[in-house]
Amino acid sequence: MAVSDYQLLEAWQQVLKLSNLEKGQTVTILTSTSTHPQTLAMAQIAAQSMGAIVNRLDLPPVNAEKALSRDPLAYLGTTPLTGNPAAIAMLKASDLVLDLMTLLFSPEQIDILKSGTKILLAVEPPEVLVRTVPTEADRARVKAHSANLAKAKEMAVVSDAGTDIRFPLGEFPVISEYAFVDEPGRWDHWPSGFCFTFPNEGGSNGTIVIDKGDILLPQKCYTSDKIVLTVENGYATKIEGGVDAELLREYMASFDDPEGYAISHIGWGLQPRCHWSTMLLYDREQSIAMDARAYEGNFLFSLGPNNEAGGNRTTACHIDIPLRNCTVKLDGQDVVRNGKVIEPEGYAK
Ligand SMILES: [Fe+2]
Repeated sequence: MAVSDYQLLEAWQQVLKLSNLEKGQTVTILTSTSTHPQTLAMAQIAAQSMGAIVNRLDLPPVNAEKALSRDPLAYLGTTPLTGNPAAIAMLKASDLVLDLMTLLFSPEQIDILKSGTKILLAVEPPEVLVRTVPTEADRARVKAHSANLAKAKEMAVVSDAGTDIRFPLGEFPVISEYAFVDEPGRWDHWPSGFCFTFPNEGGSNGTIVIDKGDILLPQKCYTSDKIVLTVENGYATKIEGGVDAELLREYMASFDDPEGYAISHIGWGLQPRCHWSTMLLYDREQSIAMDARAYEGNFLFSLGPNNEAGGNRTTACHIDIPLRNCTVKLDGQDVVRNGKVIEPEGYAK
């Protein structure tokens, strides 16, 4: 459904208000060739309406010759900021960067955040943005779950489909995504609504079964049969099954990088306004399928880098895989049971 300018403007104003944007602060809107024109126009007006000084930094895309997909998350590595100190200086000098380009994990982004600049990524189509406008309640819920995760020494995940895996925790911080940036140096992504961390390096062992109907990203497909991953000492060492497994194996092999098979972030979805079922209802060229990453009760795991959380592993290959109907346990306590979120003690929705 088309979105009115007014509705998208109000959505931006809500996000900027939650992000504590103040009169006189500098907002830089980072854009590229794939930036949605309505999202850009309404972001600009919303920031101006709140008294901000508004800049736009438009950068040409990179990596086209290396990526196998138009999805901006399909190839991680160099960004338009690599070797571009002028652009980095402009972003560091801003209070808030609205990333309508998809900068993502990079040393440059980490450096900009360290300067105190906030970065909010927003690249989903306007229809998805207005459906998933964040609230203070989203933040409170994600924070409550994150606090639980931060205390845990182990995450275990099981499912009727056959998943049975353990992840030792403690080496890496917990990251909360709730779709606004209310603190200096904070990065977030609208839409979102989930918490995650990274398992201790080399410590994950077990089996993950991607069941029929689960989602692979950036492939943006629902699997038609089970894919069985054997995980040994932090890496997926076998990917078995039918044609879906073959496709995944071939795609990952194209990166020719053993680090692409490492277990990356692990966590669970908490956003009730995102849905498992919506992925094919949007043009797959226009969306990065954040619904799939954030829908309530998923177990979202990924393969690839851990530099986002301070680890040493960088790799261009990054696969996000949200699973349905899993039970996620922290030190033996269910936090998701058969795909249903269990609220932490003391937290009332
Ligand atoms: Fe990911």
